[in-house]
Amino acid sequence: MFLIYFLMGLVTHASALDSCPKCGNMEVPYPLSTGDNCGDPRYGIYCKDGALEFLSAKGFYYKILSINPSAYKLVIEPPKIEKNTCYSSDLGFEGLRLDENLPFNISTHNTVMLFNCSDNVLQSPMNCSSTSFCRQFEEEEQEGSGCKGTLCCHFLKDASITQYMIRVRVGGCTAYTCVLDMKPGDPIDAWNYGIELQWVPPN
Ligand SMILES: *[C@@H]1O[C@H](CO)[C@@H](O)[C@H](O)[C@H]1NC(C)=O
Ligand SMILES: *[C@@H]1O[C@H](CO)[C@@H](O)[C@H](O)[C@H]1NC(C)=O
Ligand SMILES: *[C@@H]1O[C@H](CO)[C@@H](O)[C@H](O)[C@H]1NC(C)=O
Repeated sequence: MFLIYFLMGLVTHASALDSCPKCGNMEVPYPLSTGDNCGDPRYGIYCKDGALEFLSAKGFYYKILSINPSAYKLVIEPPKIEKNTCYSSDLGFEGLRLDENLPFNISTHNTVMLFNCSDNVLQSPMNCSSTSFCRQFEEEEQEGSGCKGTLCCHFLKDASITQYMIRVRVGGCTAYTCVLDMKPGDPIDAWNYGIELQWVPPN
């Protein structure tokens, strides 16, 4: 009897440690999980039509661009700014909001740019000057053209602010984008668009 329990324990344990099958041409490294029978269910992501997606707490799906399992990091695609507007496609979902009970957070390598902000955001610690990186995005990227002339700002997503959301809303800022590992002086065509998330390694 004990032996049976022991063996069953081994089997469930072993299958819980399996990594999930590839999704399209992307590996799904452990502990990320696209299904009930692989990975660790706390690290759930989605495989839809051969592409990996990350689901926010509010129900918006973000495309996963890359995964670095040894650094416990993945990069999701910033939502598109809808054509001829200054609205991010996740505006109705309050922007990117992570479930604080899940083991993911927003890393400190993200430079966030916010667009079409109302004056009251000026009080927060952001760079909203005429030399902010966001001006370059508005002026030089087609996607930012709908935001031209609006109040915009950038900030580094560091540990002094919440690591669980990038908030947009009507009456605050209505669009955003994000660049990884940005260095002052980088030309705009070298910007690496993405939002880097980090996960707590399973113990
Ligand atoms: C705002 O950011 C730009 C670009 O990095 C920088 O040149 C400028 O000094 C910053 N301004 C303030 C007030 O921090
Ligand atoms: C900017 O945001 C306001 C609401 O905060 C909205 O009414 C306006 O349409 C937005 N502008 C653009 C260009 O999307
Ligand atoms: C996110 O989680 C990782 C792993 O637990 C932690 O090391 C890191 O400090 C967290 N990031 C922030 C910005 O708090």
